[in-house]
Amino acid sequence: MQTTDTARSTWTSGDMMPNRRMPNGVVTKAERWEQRVQLGAHPLLYPAIRGLGSIRPVIRLPGLGVLVSEATLVRDVLMDSERFIKNGPSGSGALWTPVVGPKALVNMDGVAHRELRRKLADLFTPRSVAAIVEPAGASLHSRLHRGLDAGGPVDLVDGVKELAGGVISRLLGVPDDAPGRLPNRELFNLGSSISSLVRLGRPTLTVRQVAKGRSAVGVLAGPAREAYRKSDPQTFPGRLRGLGMTEEEAMGIISAFVMVGTETLVSFVPRLTALLADSGRIEGLVDDRPSVPSTVNEALRFTVPSPMMLRDVVAPSSLGGVAVRAGDRLLLSTVHASKSLGRFDPEIPIPAHARQLWFGAGPHFCIGMPLAMAEINATLNLLLDRYAQHPWAISSRQVSKGVLIPGYRKLELVNA
Ligand code: HEM
Repeated sequence: MQTTDTARSTWTSGDMMPNRRMPNGVVTKAERWEQRVQLGAHPLLYPAIRGLGSIRPVIRLPGLGVLVSEATLVRDVLMDSERFIKNGPSGSGALWTPVVGPKALVNMDGVAHRELRRKLADLFTPRSVAAIVEPAGASLHSRLHRGLDAGGPVDLVDGVKELAGGVISRLLGVPDDAPGRLPNRELFNLGSSISSLVRLGRPTLTVRQVAKGRSAVGVLAGPAREAYRKSDPQTFPGRLRGLGMTEEEAMGIISAFVMVGTETLVSFVPRLTALLADSGRIEGLVDDRPSVPSTVNEALRFTVPSPMMLRDVVAPSSLGGVAVRAGDRLLLSTVHASKSLGRFDPEIPIPAHARQLWFGAGPHFCIGMPLAMAEINATLNLLLDRYAQHPWAISSRQVSKGVLIPGYRKLELVNA
């Protein structure tokens, strides 16, 4: 079955994006690999969602919910937390409560959620983000240079996992030289063991899964509680305490960061790298760093690391002419809403109604975005700097199969 990635069936005549270059049937290498990544994760669902999205912006799918595939409508739902909630019975929020407790942002709504977000407004300043990402990036830096200098391939997916593990250690407030500190890769694996409990179409976790999740959270929470109790503002748990969080709130937030923030990043950074290398843009970016932000944004739009969001309807409404009622489950197809805007082309501005939709919108908008952007930029700049001295190329890769968040399992780089 042909997917709409390349056919672009949504944007035909009357297209809202007349200036975005239209395909002429040629599928580029970059597009082909992105499509393989999506199909590796969801071989049936991905084509179905793209196909349905290109037929109608809102479709009721009996037994599954109401699929919303157009950017303005997706944003409207996310902005309206009176009628559409995240912590309802079929959304993903409530799933987490038995594992991480009731105060993990992702499983909250209304006043309590707003109040917690307000207290966290100043959490990620440029300084606090740099204090997390710079030391965490050091091991990726040495791994890349050492590996390439030795002539061997370097697996970027592994490297980004190392970076994500280093970020987790800072979120937990564990000093590098702490006795018994878990290696970054193990920290990443623990975080990943929690987030990978979620599968599409599984509305609750089994008793065994809850026990597994709680055990991983328990290992991670030990050092975080210690750091919280020490109240050191130089540590992340100490900062949360300084912002007025109770110990339980701080543990919920740290757990949310660990489980939401790792998989998306490990999905995106290798895909960004592949997209740029496959479309022959690395060399241009080496000499044109001011273009990095718009290129990264366009790559986020084109890859959509968080492809779908869920909401429950709590009051009747109409979406794109389709009536929805309390109890309906909304499947917000960010992946179609974003990708249907066109092919990967950083020179063309992203339309206002879709801007940053891949980080959500409204009250649950990704609170980790500044951290995510710093991790992405640090890795991309490292790769561009390396390329300026010694060009590299992708030597081999494998896409991940049957995972929730599409991505590469392996992306190996070698000196060109
Ligand atoms: C490329 C990377 C990332 C993408 C694409 C992404 C995307 C998203 C999206 C779409 C949402 C909204 C979900 C919804 O409304 O249902 C979200 C929420 C969230 N993200 Fe991210 N995220 C990324 C990285 C991170 C990182 C690095 C962290 C933290 C370390 C993080 C922490 C969170 C948290 C805690 C929430 C829940 C906020 C709330 O419910 O109030 N994210 N993210």
